Amino acid sequence: MTASPPLVLVAAVAENGVIGRAGALPWRLKSDLRHFRALTLGHPVVMGRKTFVSIGRPLPGRTTIVVTRDRGFAAAGAVAAGDLTTALAIARADALRRGADAVMLVGGGQLYGEAIGTADRLEITRVRLRPDGDAWFPAVDERVWREVSRTEGTPGPEDEAPFAFIRYERAG
Ligand SMILES: NC(=O)c1ccc[n+]([C@@H]2O[C@H](COP(=O)([O-])OP(=O)(O)OC[C@H]3O[C@@H](n4cnc5c(N)ncnc54)[C@H](OP(=O)(O)O)[C@@H]3O)[C@@H](O)[C@H]2O)c1
Repeated sequence: MTASPPLVLVAAVAENGVIGRAGALPWRLKSDLRHFRALTLGHPVVMGRKTFVSIGRPLPGRTTIVVTRDRGFAAAGAVAAGDLTTALAIARADALRRGADAVMLVGGGQLYGEAIGTADRLEITRVRLRPDGDAWFPAVDERVWREVSRTEGTPGPEDEAPFAFIRYERAG
């Protein structure tokens, strides 16, 4: 166990970078929800307030840390943090307590944009769609990020589109 667990960004991203529309996911992909659960279970998860509202509850089996500037924010079972630095400090302490090997940042667009510069790993589900949207994942710069694994998905009846699970690590 390292003193500071790595920061992992977990996101499902369309071919045009879209991740959300009107406060929700623009697609239905049951396989990706299962993948998300497997990646994040037992880990602290950090998310923006809008993503928390879209999920509607803390994630079971995961310490849920919500980043918001609203000092009055309170949600049973979730921890509020006033900025990203505070959220990551809370998450890292939680990971060390739990013996978790990483901190997971799970969106949305604002939080990904703020955190990608300090992230250690990206777990991206590439969704083979180009939907309209209003939230995006930042560009993955190939000079910074190296693809280390890729698993093509097998769409089931509850998956709206083909997809692939891709892991990136820092190139240097
Ligand atoms: N495809 C995916 O993998 C995925 C994953 C997650 C979310 N999403 C989608 O993404 C969309 C939401 O993303 P979004 O970009 O609109 O919102 P977001 O990043 O989830 O949340 C934004 C909110 O977080 C708080 N915040 C952000 N930066 C902060 C900072 N530095 N300090 C304090 N608070 C901060 C603010 O909350 P306050 O306004 O309360 O101050 C801000 O309004 C939804 O459509 C959701 O479904 C998709």
